[in-house]
Amino acid sequence: MSSRLRLTVLGTGYLGITHAACMAHLGFEVLGVDTDRIKIAQLSRGELPVFEPQLEGLLREGLASGRLSFTTSYEDAAAFGDVHFICVGTPQQRGSNGADLRQIDACVSALAPLLTRSCLVVGKSTVPPGTGVAIATELARRAPAGASVELCWNPEFLREGHAVEDTLVPDRIVAGVTSPHAEAIIREVYAGQLATGVSLFVTDLATAELAKIAANAFLATKISFINAMAEVCDGAGANVKVLASILGADPRIGPKFLNSGLGFGGGCLPKDIRSFMASASELRAEGAVRLLREVDAINLQRRARITELACELIGGLPVGAQMCVLGAAFKAGSDDVRDSPALDVAQILHGLGACVTVYDPVANDNARRACPQLQYAGSAREAATGAQVVLVLTEWPEFRNINPAELSDVAAAPRAVIDARHVLDESRWQDAGWHYRAPGVSKTEDRTRLPASCSSWSGGLRSVAVDTGD
Ligand code: UDX
Repeated sequence: MSSRLRLTVLGTGYLGITHAACMAHLGFEVLGVDTDRIKIAQLSRGELPVFEPQLEGLLREGLASGRLSFTTSYEDAAAFGDVHFICVGTPQQRGSNGADLRQIDACVSALAPLLTRSCLVVGKSTVPPGTGVAIATELARRAPAGASVELCWNPEFLREGHAVEDTLVPDRIVAGVTSPHAEAIIREVYAGQLATGVSLFVTDLATAELAKIAANAFLATKISFINAMAEVCDGAGANVKVLASILGADPRIGPKFLNSGLGFGGGCLPKDIRSFMASASELRAEGAVRLLREVDAINLQRRARITELACELIGGLPVGAQMCVLGAAFKAGSDDVRDSPALDVAQILHGLGACVTVYDPVANDNARRACPQLQYAGSAREAATGAQVVLVLTEWPEFRNINPAELSDVAAAPRAVIDARHVLDESRWQDAGWHYRAPGVSKTEDRTRLPASCSSWSGGLRSVAVDTGD
């Protein structure tokens, strides 16, 4: 297919690269734009700076077809594009919960004065409600083409590890528009997906912006709900895995996002719920602020809980103890260590005096850059050598398939494993002589109290969570 619309993608982070490569795959001519020259050179050579299944193949296919190219020039972008997708990052502000919109502001400021002909600017980045109206005002004020430059908000729901399929076959498409003309362009851009029956929700700008942060807030709430239940299960001697299966069998609840354990992390869910808290607070939606603050606090408390379990297993603070951490990525299928619960626990243990060795199948390099103070190993067996406690903190299939007998001869006795993501076969590990612990499924005899010496940092983490509330 060859479309008359030419697309630019402004910002070649995770979202931008995926969107650019997928739209080129669908037949559009696409120009990817970024101010980072090194990244643009890398992408132009067909090298992907992130780990994402299928994406490198699409990047190379796009370059080879001539439909996909990259530039650092906004002038080229403005001349090229009929539709400009804003895909720049909106990280959490330092020292506050709010989103840092400086990349959005810089992108719009660079683009607007160059827009001399009719086009549609489409926001895809995750932003607080009200951002779209502010950008539309800026475009109206600064674009030479005036009212023929329109704005649409089209949030992206892609998951890392599934980014290509989520873009090519999305659950739904949301478009916040202010005119039938803008809607018509969006329908043309997504004609391929819409033809397969994907639903398009056409809304106002604010509802489209909210659709993304509300979806992430709901997912985060679901995870924190089951993790709160894990805490109850620990107290009651119940099994949260079985409980989750029972809850999930109710179609009104559904089984997805009910895996309890170490909680959520990554570049989206944590910062998005905090940004949502900040927006809700400004909007005086106090119920949402309280709910999300609790969701965040429960989530951070999981990291303390796993650290607590490790302390219990060695009978106190882990000063000088050898700890093996399996997993550094925030989830399996990704090399992303941004706000990774696994890496956070590794750092907390290190901060408490443990000698921590980390192994992750793909995220070792990123983890080493983020946390050079930790030790890194090239395999699970190497990381477990001499370890008093093995902690499985990311749900990689490789860890699920570990033969515990193969670690038994290298780990220190008595061998102990913490299955923080509920991925191991408990009886298999116990049969191989391991003391198995997992949050929410511990047996009554395992419910020992935390040594008093451990409570100060646990409380500290909790208060950090609450203090970042708004
Ligand atoms: C998320 C949203 O799913 C996606 O729609 C949005 O566009 C971006 O944010 P992503 O960050 O890729 O995607 O990760 P996701 O698969 O949602 O997992 C987030 C975190 O929750 C991970 O740390 C994962 O380990 C954790 N998680 C997920 C759980 O702890 N339990 C679950 O049941 C599911």
